[in-house]
Formats: sequence, C-alpha cells, structure tokens
Amino acid sequence: MRHYCLFGESMRKSNFVIEEMDIKLKTNFIGTNFIFYDEVDSTNQLLLNDNSIKDHGTVLFADNQVKGRGRLDREWITVKDSSLTFSILLTENLEAHRINLISLAASIAVAQSLENLYQLDVRLKWPNDVLIKTRKVCGILVESVSKGDAIERLVVGIGVNVNQPIFEGQFNIPPTSIRKESGKVSSRERLIAEILNEFERILKKIKKDPDSVLNSWRSRCKMIGDNIKVVDGKETTYGTFEDIDKNGFLLLKDKDGVNKIFNGDVTLR
Ligand code: BTN
Repeated sequence: MRHYCLFGESMRKSNFVIEEMDIKLKTNFIGTNFIFYDEVDSTNQLLLNDNSIKDHGTVLFADNQVKGRGRLDREWITVKDSSLTFSILLTENLEAHRINLISLAASIAVAQSLENLYQLDVRLKWPNDVLIKTRKVCGILVESVSKGDAIERLVVGIGVNVNQPIFEGQFNIPPTSIRKESGKVSSRERLIAEILNEFERILKKIKKDPDSVLNSWRSRCKMIGDNIKVVDGKETTYGTFEDIDKNGFLLLKDKDGVNKIFNGDVTLR
C-alpha cells in the first residue's frame, strides 16, 4: 500500500498526475512513501534535515525547486512543469563502501530508463552525470547525515531535464532535455516511475552482484582509456582514465602509477 502526502496548493496547480505515476510504479520500498511539494528550496536539503521523515525509500518530489543544489557547490536550475526534481531517502544498508556504488546506481537507473523509454544514446560521465551524447540531461547529488562513523540518512537527489525546449545561461557542461533529443514532449510521471523501478532493481544488485553494477556503468562510460583532467577544488591532476575500482572510484594512471580519485570534475584533455 503506497502512501501519498501532498503539500502546498499541490495538484491543483501542477500538471503532474500522481495516479499516472502510481500505475507504472512496481517497487517494493522506493516511493512507498511519496511526498509531493509544490515548491521547496531543495528536495535534498528538506529530506536530509527533516528527521520526522524516516521511511527507507521515501521519495520527496517537488514541482518546483528554487535553491537546487548541485555537486561542488554549484546550483541546479529546475523549470516548473518541465523538470523532474526529486530525492530518495535511504536509511538501511548504508555501509561506507556501498555509498559510492549507490551514487553510480542512480546514474545507471536514469540511463537505463532513458534507453527503455526513448531509445536514446545515453552515456555516463564519472562520477554520476548522465549525458545524451555530449550534453547533460541529468545531475545527481548524494548527500548524507552521519553520527560518528555511521551514516544515518543518505539522500540521493536526481534532477532530470525533461521537457525544456531551450536553455539559457552558463553551464559547466552544455545541457539538453529529453524533449530536445527525442523531439517529443515526455511524460514526467512515466519517467519517474521507470527511474524508481530501475533504481530499486539496481540497489538490490549492489548486494548480490556488485560486479554487474560496475559493468553496467563501465559499458556506458566512453571516457575509459582516454587522457583526462580531473579538477577538485584547487587541485588539478592529469592522467589516463584507467578504470573504476570495486567501490566506483576513478583510477587515474600517470607516469608514477595509479591514483584513486574520490571527487572532482572530469574533462577530456
Ligand atoms: C549536479 O549535476 O551538480 C547535481 C545536480 C543534482 C540536482 C538534484 S535536483 C533534486 C535534488 N535536490 C537538489 O537540491 N539537488 C538534487
């Protein structure tokens, strides 16, 4: 039995129809508790900080997000009625070595969904950007709350450009939307259901068959073997993108050996 909770003017002002999503949602725990907001600052921020929301798998969806957070302190722009903006709360199985795999799993879930529904040529860029050819269609931000060494809440935030016809402004990676790539207006309800179904399926695989998750990611990353530059704050490193390790971290090879990279922006050299 799913539980839907609506805040704000909710469905009256939104073109998002929860029933259309519900009919396609086949999950056991992701989205069983689904919270819909008209507008929030950031779905990640709300889900991280509101300790009254406890259920593993809770999805917090916002029709509009006005202070969307991106990786490396960037901002994420949501366009009401055109974007998908939501975060998923995980409170179980949060061993440290799994966290990065969960972040890769989210990007694979989005990629698989875009392939299933629109047959698009989807590529993954480390750590978890989803591109169509060279343009970014989805960003993922994973944040957590810890007590001592234990991670108590992990929030996986996903922003997808669905029906934006144009993009204005300056972007780190040139953006695109599903509409621009497929030439058609897409159903946000159908897409979020597919992403949640895929995410739950891949999360289960992390435990049973983590190698298959890593291989799914590798098969969609076209940068492995390329010469790259990694910028993390003030530090820039160069080398060959050797592979990802068993936890999904980037292995960068240079003349002195192989270094593990935990964070940063990757570009071709
Ligand atoms: C990035 O590519 O830099 C990550 C962007 C992540 C955006 C999503 S939208 C839903 C969730 N809430 C946020 O404030 N950010 C994430």
